[in-house]
Amino acid sequence: MSRITSSAPGKVILFGEHFVVEGQPAIAIAVSLRAYVTVEPTQSDEIKVYSKNFDLTETFPLNQRDSWTGKMTPVAVAAYTAMLEADKKTGLNIHIDSQIPPGSGMGSSAAVAVATVHATSLALGLQLDPRKVSDLAYEAEKVVHGKPSGIDNTIATFGGAIAYRKGEGFIQLKPIFRGVKLVLADTGNPRNTGEMVRRVLALKNTYPSILDPIYYSAGKLVVEAAQLLEKGDYENLGILMNINHGLLSAVGVSTKEIELLVHTARENGALGAKLTGAGGGGYIVALCRENDAEKIISALKSHATNVLTVNLEEEGVRKE
Ligand code: MEV
Repeated sequence: MSRITSSAPGKVILFGEHFVVEGQPAIAIAVSLRAYVTVEPTQSDEIKVYSKNFDLTETFPLNQRDSWTGKMTPVAVAAYTAMLEADKKTGLNIHIDSQIPPGSGMGSSAAVAVATVHATSLALGLQLDPRKVSDLAYEAEKVVHGKPSGIDNTIATFGGAIAYRKGEGFIQLKPIFRGVKLVLADTGNPRNTGEMVRRVLALKNTYPSILDPIYYSAGKLVVEAAQLLEKGDYENLGILMNINHGLLSAVGVSTKEIELLVHTARENGALGAKLTGAGGGGYIVALCRENDAEKIISALKSHATNVLTVNLEEEGVRKE
């Protein structure tokens, strides 16, 4: 048993968030921001989680699993699931240091869960197949998100760009990303993914005949978008991002602040702009030609609390 650090990337959902929860396809890309998790087995009978980002330490007794509460519970659950898989119950010290802004829609909790499962299993002498790492992280994600689609843990495990459908898994895409940038801008309002997912599902249950065609349309849009991404047809990709944003507004996950950022990006030359992730706050993503990026970034800075430019990250979870 040894001390291991693993890392996993965050992600941006380019198309299909929310609709993916009910079986429509979605497209996500891994981005160049990673969560680092160090796991060290101890002689104690508890899991101790320290988060550098929140400057917070929480302790979870191994023999009182039902009593676990607190912000770091999903991390403890991720480690515990890996422990059960390795068939070794032991105390652990877990240290989290993440570059992915929490509550942003950029998959920080999934990246932490994936890196935790990976590092815990290796620290306990177990080499897991990546699919198993992703599946175990999904179990932990359920604790935070209620009914996640599985897209976040999949992209954090495998990296690159994927088209994903719940229950069917994913296919790796080969996007052409030349002469364009993805710019992300933060509304400054944190959001709760589980709560947003529940709200959208409640709306769908109340108005199935109205919402079903929106879900259908979102699914068609993703199939078209995957082809455009692999062709590098950014004009049309931008148009589909705008339509996708409209569908997300229709199911109630946009806000005044999100609309301001989306319209600021478009008015300043973005090819397309939409919210990314669960909505209700968090980040928007804008597709920009490299030459236009500076103007768009500076316009977004006057309304956003944070503006980032990200690259596609090919590598998924890895041992550091
Ligand atoms: C969250 O990153 C994406 C959602 O579609 C939820 C999910 O897929 O689990 C909103």
